[in-house]
Amino acid sequence: MTIDTVPLPLPPTLDASKFQWFGREVRGVDPSAIDPDSEQFKEIEQLLYKHSVLLFRNAILSPERQYALTKAFDPTSENFGHGNNKIEKDKQNILNRTLRSIPRVPQVQLIGNGTVYDYEGFPEMRLEHASHHTWHKTHLSPEDEAAGYTRFVRWHMDAALYEFQPPRVTTLYGRIVPKGPKQVVRYDDGTGDELEMPLAATAYASGKVMFELLPRELKSVAVRGRVKYAPHPYVWVSTAKAKSTALGMEAEGKEVPLDELPGWEESKIQVTPMLWKNPVTGNLHLQVHPYCVAEIFVDPLSEGARRDGALYPDGAHLTDLKEVRDLLYKMQRPAISPQYVYPHDWHENDLIIFHNRGVLHSVTGTLQPDQIRAYHQCNLAASDSPVGPDEEDIRKWA
Ligand SMILES: [Fe+2]
Repeated sequence: MTIDTVPLPLPPTLDASKFQWFGREVRGVDPSAIDPDSEQFKEIEQLLYKHSVLLFRNAILSPERQYALTKAFDPTSENFGHGNNKIEKDKQNILNRTLRSIPRVPQVQLIGNGTVYDYEGFPEMRLEHASHHTWHKTHLSPEDEAAGYTRFVRWHMDAALYEFQPPRVTTLYGRIVPKGPKQVVRYDDGTGDELEMPLAATAYASGKVMFELLPRELKSVAVRGRVKYAPHPYVWVSTAKAKSTALGMEAEGKEVPLDELPGWEESKIQVTPMLWKNPVTGNLHLQVHPYCVAEIFVDPLSEGARRDGALYPDGAHLTDLKEVRDLLYKMQRPAISPQYVYPHDWHENDLIIFHNRGVLHSVTGTLQPDQIRAYHQCNLAASDSPVGPDEEDIRKWA
């Protein structure tokens, strides 16, 4: 059986030469009826890892079926990516304002904007669209917003990055999609970059493209690099402010001191390779959560490797947050330039499955309280840790 797929409509702003492989719409498959043990599911799994984003239009999907579909990609996973019902109890967590667990299926989160009534077990629930105002160091003026400017809110992958392993996939189901004119994301980083996109589009940047765009010396750092995340990273950064591009934090020493965080254990801290190997294609994806990194390790070059122009040829352990963030920003910023960002233009009842270990994504858009948005999101703390580059990759890129 071969599943019918068509390329996603790529916006004219995108550099199509780098994105021919990216994103497919799956046709003729009812996502609520996929049997996890079927050949059909295996084919969908292959498609997901090859194309990073799969879209199903006109999906009808209960939270129970969404959980089952998400779990099919990692059958022994059981908990939401941040642990079930944990974020609601943690007022300091920066995600506390935007995620609400659906009572019957706590692995599925309700996110969105405005107030919904009698909705999936909630008599009344006020939802708050993530906004750059609560999070970025600088803000758009009311005049700019009235003129249709907005920002990326947070470039990230869905992962707790402490205690729980990064989810393999995220499913995102657009039940109520707000309508309104397009808005223009402004980067405000001195480059003049801007990107027009549909209202409240979800923006995707590929970790594969992010790696491909690097110059040789940074590819070498990436293939030798590991990042160490802070304990309780979403509490750690709760007192700091993000860059105007939404790609990481300003280094101003405003993080919560480690001894003032909720109790933590060294054994639950995560150290992951910078590059994660795609389990189907073998491609390397630069997958680093820019907000949450505290330290960077770079292995030394092996004997016989080219040293001319190499960065950190004898290895490094970076602990200065400014240095850590500057290096990551240099590595990640090229791939969120307008020509490399895919903003998804949501239709009501779109279901997206994305390879959470292969892309970064960001909420965008500025919504008014009467612009209702209700989406169901599910990702599950994985049963394994991501796999880094193998020896051949290191020989090739170091
Ligand atoms: Fe997310």
